[in-house]
Amino acid sequence: MARSSIIRLVLAGVTSLLLLFHARVHLTSQPAPSARSTSAVAVQQSLPANTHVPDLAAATLEPAHGLPFDALHARAVTTWESAIQKGSAFICAWESGTAPQSEFLQYSDLDKWGWSSDPENVDFNVGPVRAAFSDLGLSINSPPNQKESCGHFDDKTTDGTLYKATGAEYQQTFNVEQGIIIVAWIHSPVAVIQEYKDDNYQWPWPAPQLWRWSDVSFLLWQQQCSDSGKPVAGLEWVFHETIMNDSTKALIFQALGGNANSITSWPGKTFHACTDAGKALIGSPNASGTAWMLAQHNTALAGKVIDRIVVYDPAAQPGRNRPEAQIKPCMAIHVTDGPSGLW
Ligand SMILES: *[C@@H]1O[C@H](CO)[C@@H](O)[C@H](O)[C@H]1NC(C)=O
Ligand SMILES: *[C@@H]1O[C@H](CO)[C@@H](O)[C@H](O)[C@H]1NC(C)=O
Repeated sequence: MARSSIIRLVLAGVTSLLLLFHARVHLTSQPAPSARSTSAVAVQQSLPANTHVPDLAAATLEPAHGLPFDALHARAVTTWESAIQKGSAFICAWESGTAPQSEFLQYSDLDKWGWSSDPENVDFNVGPVRAAFSDLGLSINSPPNQKESCGHFDDKTTDGTLYKATGAEYQQTFNVEQGIIIVAWIHSPVAVIQEYKDDNYQWPWPAPQLWRWSDVSFLLWQQQCSDSGKPVAGLEWVFHETIMNDSTKALIFQALGGNANSITSWPGKTFHACTDAGKALIGSPNASGTAWMLAQHNTALAGKVIDRIVVYDPAAQPGRNRPEAQIKPCMAIHVTDGPSGLW
């Protein structure tokens, strides 16, 4: 064999070793797949190692064309700009209909991943929605409003891995007759585990793969629709009552021009998805649950999109100034047929 061929062979060998090594490093630096749904992992595969708080500034955004899915995974939306970017990424996902679809489509998936439902243990606080429901011609009676709390209360072993119950819970009320979800409380398994870590508490078990509010609530909604013979795609409003999350509140106040006390009672102020403020609100921690649901259950929800978000505060009174900490806004997310021309 000629010397040049030998050199070429050796070089090729070294190159493939380097490639292998590179691939290994790349693989092992991925976030632990167990803590996320498989579809989320698929979305994240092209992301750099530390994806918990992705560098949103680095996320490229091509409105209506590019799909900066990494922006969707920003759990901590810290700036106005990053919220707009996240909201825009959701709009891209709905419009293109190409977001990876959720693998959780069966009601039995809830039990499989340790979730159990309790219809009674929910606070359907009519107060925050009374004026809105009356104006929109919606019922405040039960039925058609059906409370349902879903908690991650059961230990499950799947494929040899123990998924320990986290005590996470989602509390809401469904009205499948009129197409409404009223959210009272969101506390996800991933958030619970993060809180344990922040407190230096040992929690060696992974979060269940079925963990998102969007997936859990979709399955509950789908089941109630099927029980009542109503269309799953009949969803029209998602209300978030008494929001206390600081990030969402900051985004709402910024949308209102920076003055928290300019919030009014219903009809509040409406922000369309085509505006920066509308996008920032879609990207807020509270609205992003609905945004995920529309992106990842695109087929069942017939390609619906968020076209506007109303922010209001039932406790607001003209001329009454309160410290921001005392203001607990409500959000009414309106869902309609897409594609939307939201740009
Ligand atoms: C608001 O929600 C985000 C997303 O869940 C979370 O990262 C943040 O810690 C929350 N803020 C507060 C004050 O709870
Ligand atoms: C708003 O979102 C935060 C963070 O996910 C959650 O803790 C809170 O329960 C949510 N509140 C409502 C009313 O949706």
